[in-house]
Amino acid sequence: TQAGLADTYGRIATDLRVSLTDRCNLRCTYCMPEEGLDWLAKPELLTDDEIVRLVGIAVTQLGVHEIRFTGGEPLLRRGLVDIVARTTALTPRPEVSLTTNGIGLARQAVALKAAGLDRVNVSLDTIRPDTFVELTRRDRLKDVLAGMVAAQEAGLTPVKVNAVLMRGINDTHAPELLEFCLEHGYELRFIEQMPLDAQHGWNRATMVTADEILEQLGERFGLEPTDAAARGSAPAEIFSVRGGSQTVGIIASVTRPFCGDCDRVRLTADGQVRDCLFARTESDLRTAMRSGADDAELADRWRRAMMKKLPGHGINDPAFLQPVRPMSAIGG
Ligand code: GTP
Ligand code: 5AD
Ligand code: SF4
Repeated sequence: TQAGLADTYGRIATDLRVSLTDRCNLRCTYCMPEEGLDWLAKPELLTDDEIVRLVGIAVTQLGVHEIRFTGGEPLLRRGLVDIVARTTALTPRPEVSLTTNGIGLARQAVALKAAGLDRVNVSLDTIRPDTFVELTRRDRLKDVLAGMVAAQEAGLTPVKVNAVLMRGINDTHAPELLEFCLEHGYELRFIEQMPLDAQHGWNRATMVTADEILEQLGERFGLEPTDAAARGSAPAEIFSVRGGSQTVGIIASVTRPFCGDCDRVRLTADGQVRDCLFARTESDLRTAMRSGADDAELADRWRRAMMKKLPGHGINDPAFLQPVRPMSAIGG
């Protein structure tokens, strides 16, 4: 059979997000503590061959047609260019993109393009050097900006930018960040902070909401909602700027959940299938694979893993519990 990754609510996952490492070279305060985390040990990580094999099963047998490589920070993975090249060589060829903090992108952009990478999303929460250090605990703003320029020059476009606003740190920086992105032709999206940080410090009361962001930007930038029907399963609501062709997006995961249209499934760097960012269970493909399971059996396990997918993330339920793993270990 060639059945895809359907869940019991009729959603079909066609977008696979693959975490290539749980490590990162930044320490964003909304993500992990200064000292870092207990990283996965080498034997726990899927090898390059194992990743390519599982991605191949997803693409050729399970109807997945978009692959997103994430982390931690995916540019830290040695085999990245080779993994991308082997992924874009699959038939049917999936769309392949990368979500990165941009550090090291200046060095790798051309090779990634040559390997077939289609585009990149870069995380950038502020363009002020001092605020960047406060937020990420590392003085690397210049590397990030250089990475973005290199990505655009290499044709890894559109370059999308992800920004999380933190109250008291960068919550007043939305307009200047948008001006900067409009000037450079980057597609900016603001993201509501989700309860996925390792420190469990998320707080609904301090979260900067989509409504607040729109209020800050609306009049100044002449924002107009674009055709909502065109959004499909995309997390971002898109607004046009000053009646022109440029846009800004809002990813309101918390206040306007989009789980009903979800088309995503995740593979962690240690080979666990997660049917949702907020899943409380995982399905272990690594052990099955290393015990000799063939492709058909792995595909079957993967299909069965989807059956536990819940209708939504439940962040707004009183009984909500944060997933055991933080976002850096799940994949962004
Ligand atoms: P593209 O627009 O196609 O590039 O996809 P994307 O917006 O999903 O890309 P990206 O990896 O840059 O993710 C941006 C943000 O969307 C993440 O930081 C998350 O906050 C949010 N996000 C991504 N995937 C999910 C998801 O499955 N569920 C929820 N609730 N939020 C998600
Ligand atoms: N809530 C929302 N977005 C987050 N990101 C990291 N942690 C969180 C969180 N708790 C963002 C990063 C990156 C993307 C992959 O996810 O800024 O852009
Ligand atoms: Fe899909 Fe889960 Fe994200 Fe909702 S929270 S959009 S169900 S992955």
